[in-house]
Amino acid sequence: MNRYGDEEFKLQYYADDILKSEGMQYSKSNRHHGEVSVYSHSVDVAIISLKLARKLKLKVDEKSLVRGALLHDYYLYDWHEPDESHRLHGFSHAKTAYNNASDVFDLNHIEKDIIIKHMFPLNLPLPMYRESVLVCIADKISAIKDYSKQMTWVREHKEALQKYIRNQDISA
Ligand SMILES: [Fe+2]
Ligand SMILES: [Fe+2]
Repeated sequence: MNRYGDEEFKLQYYADDILKSEGMQYSKSNRHHGEVSVYSHSVDVAIISLKLARKLKLKVDEKSLVRGALLHDYYLYDWHEPDESHRLHGFSHAKTAYNNASDVFDLNHIEKDIIIKHMFPLNLPLPMYRESVLVCIADKISAIKDYSKQMTWVREHKEALQKYIRNQDISA
């Protein structure tokens, strides 16, 4: 196996069924942070988790790590859409993701823990396995990456944005 692309290979090796599932394909159309889809974010979290485990030389169950990471945000809705049920998204989506994922996939105890605990410390139960801790950290790293991409885009388009705002007729 080549060093380059190891993680992408492992995603397909361990979780091709998840990647091709209807729910994951649907999550390509749901925005997560900025313009990043839930699908891209989930793939990113799985890759970061594998890289962290390798860098830290941790012995992990890679298959469970990958499958749990891919399903950690399997909540299957766009939380940006105004809807009463999305109001507590931050607190409730881990449980929703678990319920949806367990309807379709046979989850083991590590995968279950990864999904339910990934919002620690917003959701209080402590992650119980090193795989859950890795996904919890990878999720935060991925979110910071997404937001910093947005900030870079704003900086790069600052002049064009200012020009656009100046040209808007705000008296209308
Ligand atoms: Fe999440
Ligand atoms: Fe996430």
